[in-house]
Amino acid sequence: MSTKILVLNGPNLNLLGTREPHIYGNETLDDVQFMTEARARELGLEVEFRQSNSESEIVDWIQSAKGTAHGIIINAGAYTHTSIAILDALIAVSLPVVEVHLSNLFKREEFRHHSFITSAAAGLITGFGAKGYPLAVEAMSSILQDAA
Ligand code: DQA
Repeated sequence: MSTKILVLNGPNLNLLGTREPHIYGNETLDDVQFMTEARARELGLEVEFRQSNSESEIVDWIQSAKGTAHGIIINAGAYTHTSIAILDALIAVSLPVVEVHLSNLFKREEFRHHSFITSAAAGLITGFGAKGYPLAVEAMSSILQDAA
């Protein structure tokens, strides 16, 4: 199988472009997908790009990544700060994980400073807007090359 990266987006990220653009930027989720896929193509990776407002659907997608994807890039949206279920699923599949956020979590409210995802991730990209996604693809490419 080609090297496949599952890119998961959590709640409200479907509203990008219109949702608090001063925080999240003007790009839509389609724009983010386009940028992510373009960088992946340059690096010889295949991307499966998904968004859900449902925690259970995200957990199901993470579980199904075992054996079908080589790594997971995740912006869990607000579930970042609440979801032990997503953390457990990421640990269970033991695939490399890169966590991404459009905004800089540490410049924002205190409740956004803690992420349940980070302890399962190789690293965290936060604060670079939509450009964080192609950066996350680069990070994943480097992780997968080092592991090869
Ligand atoms: C976010 C940051 C989260 O705190 C927030 O709930 C989001 C988006 C980001 O990409 O900056 O929905 O994950």
